[in-house]
Amino acid sequence: MATSIVFSSLLAFCFCYVSLAFDPQPLQDFCVADVGGAVRVNGVVCKDPKKVTAEDFFFSGLQEPGNTSNPSGSGVTPVFAAQLPGLNTLGISMARLDYAPWGINPPHTHPRATEILTVLEGSLHVGFVTSAPENRLFTKVLQKGDVFVFPAGLIHFQRNVGYTNAVAIAGLNSQNPGVISVAANVFGSNPLISSDVLAKAFQVDRNIVETIQSKF
Ligand SMILES: *[C@@H]1O[C@H](CO)[C@@H](O)[C@H](O)[C@H]1NC(C)=O
Repeated sequence: MATSIVFSSLLAFCFCYVSLAFDPQPLQDFCVADVGGAVRVNGVVCKDPKKVTAEDFFFSGLQEPGNTSNPSGSGVTPVFAAQLPGLNTLGISMARLDYAPWGINPPHTHPRATEILTVLEGSLHVGFVTSAPENRLFTKVLQKGDVFVFPAGLIHFQRNVGYTNAVAIAGLNSQNPGVISVAANVFGSNPLISSDVLAKAFQVDRNIVETIQSKF
């Protein structure tokens, strides 16, 4: 009995803790982002509800493939609060992902969201890595109709393992999930992180670091 009370309390604590890490629950039906507004808050202030129209809850364009003519061979079309103002305060968003044959969506994390992904066309090799010290890799090959989840904050990737284009749709539990692309963030920061720091961190020569930096 005592054990179950301790366990329940622990579970309740965990849920409270987790809920604080994500977008808060809205206190009104909607709060369409006042995109041009000058006031800065955590999120975007609400547009006058009397001026809200159906267009504020609408986005068109996911029928178009993203541009995959880049070194990764993938394109992401986000539908976040910035693209769809009606998402403001609702704690949800989505994206279309396109992959050229053998293209990758390079290792990245969403600091504010879990991602659930389904394959519409092609096959994808997907994976994520848990936090230290385990750094455990979970991978799977997905076919059309398969679904995979990438837990919030963890580094994950996708690779098209086929000779045809692949398409996926992702849902994310934040209006503004954020993207930290590992290579671009570390090797392409503005200004650059000192190559001495990266040479030690990656245990390679500075010239290797500088070669990678030159690509971002
Ligand atoms: C796709 O991106 C490449 C590289 O940025 C660019 O040269 C090309 O014009 C783009 N294609 C389309 C259809 O926008």
